[in-house]
Amino acid sequence: MEAPLIIRRKRDGLALSRDDIFSFVERYMRGEIPDYQFSALLMAIYFRGLDARETADLTEAMMHSGQVLDLSGFPQAKVDKHSTGGVGDKTSLIVGPVAAAGGLMVPMISGRGLGHTGGTLDKLESIPGFNTRLTLDEFRRVLGAVGMGLIGQTDDLAPADRRLYALRDVTATVESIPLICASILSKKIAEGIDGLVLDVKTGSGAFMKTLEDSRALAERMVAIGTACGKRVKAIVTDMSQPLGCAVGNALEVIECIEALKGRGPHDLMDVSRELTAHMFVVGGAETSLEVARTRFDSILGSGLGLEKFAQSIREQGGNPRVLDDYSLFAAAQFEDAVVAPEEGYLAALEAETMGRASMVLGAGRERLDSVIDPAVGLVLEKKVGDPVAAGERVCAIYSNDRSRVARVREMIREAMRISPEPVTAPTLLLAELGESSVVRGP
Ligand code: URA
Repeated sequence: MEAPLIIRRKRDGLALSRDDIFSFVERYMRGEIPDYQFSALLMAIYFRGLDARETADLTEAMMHSGQVLDLSGFPQAKVDKHSTGGVGDKTSLIVGPVAAAGGLMVPMISGRGLGHTGGTLDKLESIPGFNTRLTLDEFRRVLGAVGMGLIGQTDDLAPADRRLYALRDVTATVESIPLICASILSKKIAEGIDGLVLDVKTGSGAFMKTLEDSRALAERMVAIGTACGKRVKAIVTDMSQPLGCAVGNALEVIECIEALKGRGPHDLMDVSRELTAHMFVVGGAETSLEVARTRFDSILGSGLGLEKFAQSIREQGGNPRVLDDYSLFAAAQFEDAVVAPEEGYLAALEAETMGRASMVLGAGRERLDSVIDPAVGLVLEKKVGDPVAAGERVCAIYSNDRSRVARVREMIREAMRISPEPVTAPTLLLAELGESSVVRGP
């Protein structure tokens, strides 16, 4: 069917056939359909939606726009974890090593941070020498040697997503559940996985701000991933305050190393345990979530997770001595602090503003070409629910440019709320969606 007819069908709210979807993507990638026609289709999808079958077809069309990794020669179950992004969200560096130490293969292809959310690649690159730009052959070799690999998106895997994401970004069509699903799942399924565990964040620091929207995204991703033949689980977790204490690249890696040594903050450990346990179940390494959680704890307790991370760093060209000597990480020149203005209980440390504050310090990216400072960031010394005395430190600010600190301090004060009444810490694990979840309409 001609491109204008396909656009018209979607504009009028009709379903597109699998052939229409595949041919639209294929012709776009060959340069036969221009950006303006795909933009029109994206806008029609934004308003009219895609049903579950159309979303699965779009996911597959985007996945087949490049190579699909074949990891079938390796005996392990291949399971990845994907988070929709948040502030201080660093679970990949805990979940990956523990899952690989537990016998899964974890092929993680991650993104860079943009805006107030951090990206796994930026964190990894704060490890001296760590190379995230492996070719797919090198990635396969690392996966074979370690059982896990951590690299950035390449032009070979789901290239249609990169082009379409750029188009969505400038046509105000990013916030569409079927387009988000197809974007994330096309890249993940191209990694050659058998299963996927999704951490859909909800709250001020997340892409989806309400529980209802986050649930809808999680449900749809589970349904589409399942329709594409993968075992998929999703959990919805809180992102109203940063996860863990550190926000900033080297600071977050150090927090993950501490976590692998069994000394991580409770919330970070709880989310990491839950994600890893689901990965064990999805990968068939365990049948019960209860036992899978115990397995996470015992791998951590035995030091095998830390050992796996050391092996991963070594195989990707990094210096594994960072695990014992944190002075090998870039360190910020200045330390300041924000203190509690009055006595009470910490009632909010609003995640999005905290993420923006760390971006002002240079820990995040305002634009795609912004340069990251690996050393700077924030460390929360109190979390929501903690009692505070007047003048007590709530958050440390690590900077290399003192002129930015006043603004950052102001932002943290804006993000912080103190209540005279006791406050309960937010519930971390808000929903769990699995193979039995219902496919909803557009
Ligand atoms: N992350 C992605 O990879 N794609 C989207 O569309 C949104 C978030």
